[in-house]
Amino acid sequence: MSGETTDTIRKKKIFSAVKPTGSPTIGSYAGALKNWIAMQDAYDCVYCVADLHSITVSLEPAVFRKNTLEMLAMYLALGINPEKCVLFLQSHVSAHAELAWVLNCYTQFGEASRMTQFKEKSKRNPENVNVGLFDYPVLMAADILLYQAETVPVGEDQKQHVELARNIAQRFNNRYSPTFVLPEPVMPKYGAKIYGLQNPTAKMSKSEENPNDCVYLADGADEIMRKFKAAVTDSDSAVKYDKTNKPGISNLLTVYSVFSGESIDKAEKEFEGKGYADFKKRVGEAVIEFLKPVQAEYKKLLADKNYLQSVMKSGAERAARIARRTLSKVYRKVGFVPLEQ
Ligand code: TRP
Repeated sequence: MSGETTDTIRKKKIFSAVKPTGSPTIGSYAGALKNWIAMQDAYDCVYCVADLHSITVSLEPAVFRKNTLEMLAMYLALGINPEKCVLFLQSHVSAHAELAWVLNCYTQFGEASRMTQFKEKSKRNPENVNVGLFDYPVLMAADILLYQAETVPVGEDQKQHVELARNIAQRFNNRYSPTFVLPEPVMPKYGAKIYGLQNPTAKMSKSEENPNDCVYLADGADEIMRKFKAAVTDSDSAVKYDKTNKPGISNLLTVYSVFSGESIDKAEKEFEGKGYADFKKRVGEAVIEFLKPVQAEYKKLLADKNYLQSVMKSGAERAARIARRTLSKVYRKVGFVPLEQ
């Protein structure tokens, strides 16, 4: 490092991705997106809408297409800046599927079988245990390794997959020569886990049985307020953070803190002596206030198909350039005969 000025010190490379299934919720914002936005300046970020990963479950094509575009528009509206980071759709960069195939041959059946998420998903959905579901973590490894990412911010449930990517990378490097940077999973520093409003001991879910459990980033103001007013609390009356004994109130305090920008400590003081009804209303208001300009921008972007196309196009080109460099190296090392230009 000596002799380098701060300008020439390379920024750390980050890769992250989310699946475009369903509409993004306030939980997706607090847990991942907020962190993505915060990291754009300090890191060299590659952000991917992992649409290839989505099809391990059966989807309605028109709904899937709509969800993907809505997710892209929502990310842009929230502040993901395509000039600061590389933002693209996974299906637009064919290197992901290509590298995944190669990495399949460097992944043992046994280690893929040990993936907790695979075991859980196959148990939950025994009628559709497809090979894609089994191979899902290898495609993830391809995502990460193509961009030589050092750091991969993920939720707890994806940590094991990033560790697998690291093991595959190490195996490939040992077999040939250093090819891939070894990625490390990190739990987001600013991340906050949001629980369901109806069932505050489980992650906020999009389950159909309980539509009030979950607040979507695109929900209208009335709907948001209705859901917060119906949120489960407890028989006590103190607005205090205590995850074990007061999961509902603690969750609402987290939501309030994320969307108002105030600390939990300060929020507790602010609501001291006030009733739950008052508190829940204020939480709803904080979320509505935060989302007002975001939703206006979201609507504008969704209507501007040309702009969305231009973002996807330039993102795909930039991503493909980086990815191609890694893939060519891999093909050469494996021994595929290059086609001379
Ligand atoms: N599997 C991740 C999820 O469900 C999404 C994802 C796809 C991802 N590829 C990735 C996350 C690569 C990190 C790195 O949330």
